[in-house]
This record gives sequence, structure tokens and C-alpha cells, in this order.
Amino acid sequence: MKLPESVKILLLGSGGRESALAWKIARSPRVAALFIAPGNAGTAAYGTNVDLNPNNFGTVKQFILTNNINLVVVGPEEPLVKGLQDYIREDSEIYHVPVIGPSMLGAKLEGSKDFAKGFMARHGIPTADYKTFTKETVEEGFRLLESLRPPYVLKADGLAAGKGVLILGSLPEAKSELENILGGKFGAAGNTVVIEQYLEGIECSVFVATDGKNFRLLPVAKDYKRIGEGDTGPNTGGMGAVSPVPFADDVFMGKVRTRIVEPTVEGLAREKIDYRGFIFIGLMNVGGEPYVIEYNVRLGDPETEAILPLIESDMVELFESMAFGNLDSYWLEISPKYSVTVMCVAGGYPGDYQKGDEITGLDQAAAGTETLIFQAGTAKSGLKTVTNGGRVLSVTSLGETLEEALAKSYAAIDRIEYRGKYCRRDIGQDLAHCKD
Ligand code: AMP
Ligand code: GLY
Repeated sequence: MKLPESVKILLLGSGGRESALAWKIARSPRVAALFIAPGNAGTAAYGTNVDLNPNNFGTVKQFILTNNINLVVVGPEEPLVKGLQDYIREDSEIYHVPVIGPSMLGAKLEGSKDFAKGFMARHGIPTADYKTFTKETVEEGFRLLESLRPPYVLKADGLAAGKGVLILGSLPEAKSELENILGGKFGAAGNTVVIEQYLEGIECSVFVATDGKNFRLLPVAKDYKRIGEGDTGPNTGGMGAVSPVPFADDVFMGKVRTRIVEPTVEGLAREKIDYRGFIFIGLMNVGGEPYVIEYNVRLGDPETEAILPLIESDMVELFESMAFGNLDSYWLEISPKYSVTVMCVAGGYPGDYQKGDEITGLDQAAAGTETLIFQAGTAKSGLKTVTNGGRVLSVTSLGETLEEALAKSYAAIDRIEYRGKYCRRDIGQDLAHCKD
């Protein structure tokens, strides 16, 4: 089975990740049409934006039928956790349209921390020790906390807009937060709470493309989550990313492959989970040994903006191999360069921030360079591009060294202006000393 020679693609999502996906997809000679729903002001440069909510499955179906879509690519996790892949698979009119993204059961790897931990336990995949609690067993939860040393890690089981993980420094705080989460702090997402062992180390993001039985490893990235330099202050959706990661060398990645990626893909096959999509494995490197912190069932943001420009092979052919079980014969070509993404956010983010400020300098910022601007929270206001979200745009550059890539991204950022523009100036600095 193959896709038609000329493919009509519907890409769901609206962030910087989808801008990078749209950019990469549009470079394929196989693309006859690319629709991005809902997209942002930047994605309109790579295809046609469509005002459609990815979580409204009925309108997704109508769009597929009306526009003879041959392939659906799902950017964010929410439609997958809600069962979009299953909805399409089970509909007599659109079941034949392949979806890049797992079934609802597969999406539980991200949608339920308890499911993910159970999956790892069943398949011997290294992760922090854990126990799961509900309102009924809160007293046992307290006792477990009393037996542990700080810091304490509490995780709401369900999707909590990226806020469901709490790391607490004292026992009273940990106990009271356990009560708060079980009491509804994160809504139903916190009806079940995972308490797990704290892992000390350095994190990286491993991206796996799978067809359910074979896999390919995409470039490894490291993201920068906190708003402040030196990784301080509140968590954000991501302030930047670097790829590849110097400490994820052949020895470390050999362990990742045999201890984590192979058992994960084999586990999916053994449990008959329909998974044709990306697995994003958040890993902790604990003294050279990899442990899984979390699974996500999508690509990362802003990691996608850093890794896709390093992929030299054709994206539509990657999707085709994933959709039809032929990944074993797909040749994934990766550039040997460094890639760096710096996110520019709105002043005040991740707290309150303004929208609607004009952005200038976009055309000049990257002209004639190896730099790419992937818009995220942007919109059009007449002919102007204006801010429309907390994470406004990301600036990706490639270079022979990390320093070269960083210098290019910061030079481009200096040419872009909008009120309250902020970016972290220390992206990649913690890795710069371990360059090769
Ligand atoms: P998540 O929302 O699942 O991405 O988790 C947020 C962050 O919490 C992760 O990126 C880690 O930095 C941290 N974290 C999660 N689990 C642990 C753990 N067991 N030990 C140490 N840090 C953790
Ligand atoms: N960069 C982390 C995420 O996409 O969840």
C-alpha cells in the first residue's frame, strides 16, 4: 500500500511545531495540497489555513471528504487522546485515510501517567519507581511520602495542560498538594495521582517515528522549559531547543535504543496497540543511564522546530512508511549540523500578556541566511502580522557548531521587533562546553 503520487494533506494544529511540520511537508515534491487547521499567520506561507477545530471530529470528516484528503497528520495530543484516529478508522466513508498519530489506547501513553507507568512496568522499561493513589487511598499516599526523602514528585494522572507535575521540597507541601490534586486542583485529571521517585540528572527528548513494528530515531533534542535564564522561574511551553545533544552520544543512545525504544515498540505490538505516529520520550540521563520521565504521543514543541530542519529525507515518504508499515525500508537522512531554536515570547508570559502587537522585521530577519522563522502565536490583522499568543515565534538556525547556530538565531531575533519581546539568551549555554 502506498499514498497516491500527489498527496493532499490535512495537518492539524496551530503552534510553532505545526509551522515547522508545514514547512517541511511543503518541501516534498509529493504534495499536491497542504491544509493546516487552524494554523497561524506563519503557516499560510506553506499551505492553506482552514478555520476548523481539530477536536470537532465531525467537521474534520467533512473537510476530508470535501477536499479528497489522502493523509491526516495530527500535531497536538488532544485530538488523539480524545480518539480522532479511532473515529476515522471506524467511519465507513473515511476509514481508508491514513492518520499519523496513534489510536486512543496508544495515546494513553501521554493521556494517563498511570497507564504509561504500567506499560513501562509490563515491558521492563527503566523509569522512576512509583505508586498510584486515589481519594480512597490518600492516607497510604501520606505514608509513602513520609517514607521518602525530598524532593517529592507528584503527577496528576490525566492531561492537565502541562501543569500536572509538581516537584516539592518539603513533606508538608507534598502532603497538602496530594490532597489538593485529589481534591480537584486539576479537575478530573487529578482523580488519580502518581507519586514517584525523584531522578537526578540531565534531560533530553528522544523522538521515535514508528509504524507499530519498526522504528526510526529522529535527532535527539534538549529543550529549555523555564522562563528565566539559568532555567529559573515558572515553567513555560518551552523557550528553546538544541539538537543534537552532546551527551546523547553513541554509548548513551545504544542504551536508549535497546532498553527503551525497542521494548516500547515491541510492547505496543505485543499489546496490539495501533500506533502509527511519533513517540516523544522524555528521558533523564542519571549518571549515564537512561530513565523514562514521560511519554508523549506527538512531536515536542519547540523541539520540532529544531529537529525537522536537520532531516534531509522526504517527510511525505516518512509518513507513507509509517502509515503502511514500511519503515524498515525507509532511509532517514540526517544532517550532521547543529540546530538551535530560540523562542520569542510575549512580555509577561507565562503570566498575563498582551495580544495584537504588530511584529516587524520578519521578512528581513532571515533573508539570505540559514535561519528559519517558525511562527507560533501570530495572526494577521489586515496586512500586518500581530502577536496572538504567549509563545510568539521561534527562530531556528543551523551551524557547523552550536555557537555558530546560536549566533545566527540571536542575530535574526535582533532584527525582529514587537512590544515586550523576550527570549532567553542562554539557550544551549549549558551544552556549549561539551561540543565536539
Ligand atoms: P512533565 O510535565 O511530565 O513534562 O514533567 C515536568 C518536568 O518535571 C519534567 O520535564 C522533569 O523536569 C520533571 N520531572 C518529572 N518527573 C520527574 C522525576 N521522577 N524526577 C525528577 N524530575 C522529574
Ligand atoms: N517541549 C516539551 C513538550 O512539547 O511537551
